[in-house]
Amino acid sequence: MDISKKIEESYVSLFGKNSDIKIKAPGRINILGEHTDYNNGFVMPSAIDKAIYFSIGKREDSKICISALDLENYYEAEDINQLESKTKDWSNHLIGVILEIKKLGFTFDNGVNICFGGDIPNGAGLSSSAAVEAGISFGLNEIFGFNLDLLQLAKIAQATEHNYVGVKCGIMDMYASLFSRKNQVIRLDCESLTHDYIPADFEKHTFILVNSAVKHNLADTEYNVRRNQCQKGVEVLNKEFGKINTLRDANFEQLEQIKAEIDPITYNRCKYILDEKERVMLASEALKQHDFEKLGEIMNQTHEGLSKMYEVSCKELDFLASEALKIEGVLGSRMMGGGFGGCTLNLIKKEAEADFKEKITSAYQHKFGIIPEIYTANLSEGVHKIA
Ligand code: GLA
Repeated sequence: MDISKKIEESYVSLFGKNSDIKIKAPGRINILGEHTDYNNGFVMPSAIDKAIYFSIGKREDSKICISALDLENYYEAEDINQLESKTKDWSNHLIGVILEIKKLGFTFDNGVNICFGGDIPNGAGLSSSAAVEAGISFGLNEIFGFNLDLLQLAKIAQATEHNYVGVKCGIMDMYASLFSRKNQVIRLDCESLTHDYIPADFEKHTFILVNSAVKHNLADTEYNVRRNQCQKGVEVLNKEFGKINTLRDANFEQLEQIKAEIDPITYNRCKYILDEKERVMLASEALKQHDFEKLGEIMNQTHEGLSKMYEVSCKELDFLASEALKIEGVLGSRMMGGGFGGCTLNLIKKEAEADFKEKITSAYQHKFGIIPEIYTANLSEGVHKIA
């Protein structure tokens, strides 16, 4: 049965009537521009056909009831206008959204029932959290008529991560979930928060995700550490040159000039970001020109940078990326997303797909005893209502 029907069925069995609205909120891939979003650079994400589905309905009273189907967990509170977030609880991804909407001055004139679940693998770096936040903010905006636009919803979702989940993430994941279009890659400028679309005409190529099935504990902490390291670089650069608010504003010459004043780790982090800023422009050009060889090369350089300079990879991802390149028909392979686990993104010739899947599975299983899940990234529409 399709997931949305399953969600609606449990909504009906829990709350005794149909929901008011059904929402599909997708996860995302990112073709290039990793860790550039919070440095105000460019990113190239797109939603994929893995999503979180919601059934949502208003209540007569002021209660809020949330059923998380995949987690087999349930949350309930007496008054939607008097919520508190809990430490490290899944419900924060939804409660945080409500609290952020309230901060904008809105009140909820009724309580709400929510049932949700989906097929975005957890911890795979495909942004299931952002999909939950984007989906619920979109759904609440629809049924309560707050008239918030998609960018405001993306900011609410991001603030939820910052203030209630504790990850100081950039805006890429939620932006991609909300703004994506079928068969288009978003090219998002994280400074102006505007984007254009690049048609995803991959010709005889395809993007394949290989899930390492690991998520190392340090992922969230190290993410925030990387942010602070970039900030440290920015402070020195700004003191020296002025008008440098983020690494977006800095160039290679400036970084070289302050090299002696910063520690080697800070230097490496900043250098990676400046390299990646340049790579993402080259990658979007390569995609527009259908130069897939070039795009693959750039992806490989990004992996190298993420692994050696930014140090957010891990042995499993390094292995998957380097093994992939040994397989005939693979143009590029890199870890994707925040790092320390999750998926590699592989650009391969369609004709090589079956062989690639077989070889990478057997190599990974042989080395780590894990059979990796493999998904084809079908670029899909962003958050929307479904019938
Ligand atoms: C995570 C964050 C994003 C982005 C990526 C790395 O997915 O949520 O904001 O920083 O890592 O590119």
